[in-house]
Amino acid sequence: MKAKLEEIRERAKEELSKANAIENLEELRVKYAGKKGELTAILKQMGKLSPEERPVIGQLANEVRSYIDNAIETKKAELNELKLQRQLEEEKIDVTLPSNTEPLGHKHPLSIVLDEIKEIFVGMGFEIVEGPEVEYDYYNFEALNIPKDHPARDTQDTFYITDNIVLRTQTSPVQVRVMEKKKPPIRIISPGRVFRSDAVDATHSPLFHQIEGLVVDKDITFADLKGTLETFIKRLYGEDSVVRFRPHHFPFTEPSAEVDVQCFSCKGKGCRVCKNEGWIEILGCGMVHPKVLENCGIDPEEYSGFALGLGLERVAMRRYGVDDMRLFFENDTRFLSQF
Ligand code: DAH
Repeated sequence: MKAKLEEIRERAKEELSKANAIENLEELRVKYAGKKGELTAILKQMGKLSPEERPVIGQLANEVRSYIDNAIETKKAELNELKLQRQLEEEKIDVTLPSNTEPLGHKHPLSIVLDEIKEIFVGMGFEIVEGPEVEYDYYNFEALNIPKDHPARDTQDTFYITDNIVLRTQTSPVQVRVMEKKKPPIRIISPGRVFRSDAVDATHSPLFHQIEGLVVDKDITFADLKGTLETFIKRLYGEDSVVRFRPHHFPFTEPSAEVDVQCFSCKGKGCRVCKNEGWIEILGCGMVHPKVLENCGIDPEEYSGFALGLGLERVAMRRYGVDDMRLFFENDTRFLSQF
């Protein structure tokens, strides 16, 4: 029996040394020390031994059992450690490997130009304000001296929401909203989306962007308007830009003008860029009509002001030599990634 126990110990040792998975260990434990295991089987035969032999064999059997238990625990710890090492090895990140480069986004060309324009005006002390895109007829037309039967309404094909609510056709209504709220001195620009029911082509879109400008204070004259706009255009198109003011008509300004810049491509000789005119129209402007001031509760005897409105798409098209406005709205990344 003693020899048998020794043999079990040796065989267990041997088999344990070959075990290479935690699951094998459990099998071995059952095989040797389990209820139906080999050791248990031997212990069951203890009764057949003589009283002298019993304690000796009993002690040996206990030793073998605790040997096997210990050996299994030790092996288990070893295997666990090995497993952890392997896992750490597999999950190791090589931080020196070059990364997959994610393509960087681009600012939209309209945003680039708008940011530049904002910066120029902010540099001259203007504040930036915004107004609603869904607007009352009153603000979009009436208060701006464009009554119901005014021909100017035909040139701005309007999307009507109800009889007296429209999608704003221009950013000019923000002028009225600002003047109603704030007493002079006022010096603001207001960029935003405007809507007109135009068919889409290379130079028309039912949605486009304008930037409105408004200055109201005591003693504001056309000279202030001229000086401000010349400074603006030179900052935008370069110090050597040549600017001209052409008389025009807008219902909400008197006098009104359109401002052209001499074609920077041909220097006024006439070319494709300026459609042979030598000049490129940039914006509309004028002295705020006394009726508009009055509509907003500002006394035209005490205050005067100037206003301007420019189209963002036009500026961007010229800046980047883009000849089709649709490109700005299609969001084709092959186009956008060039900026
Ligand atoms: N609102 C005009 C338009 O959409 C542009 C404009 C012209 C705005 C003259 C002004 C201005 O503030 O003074 O055609």
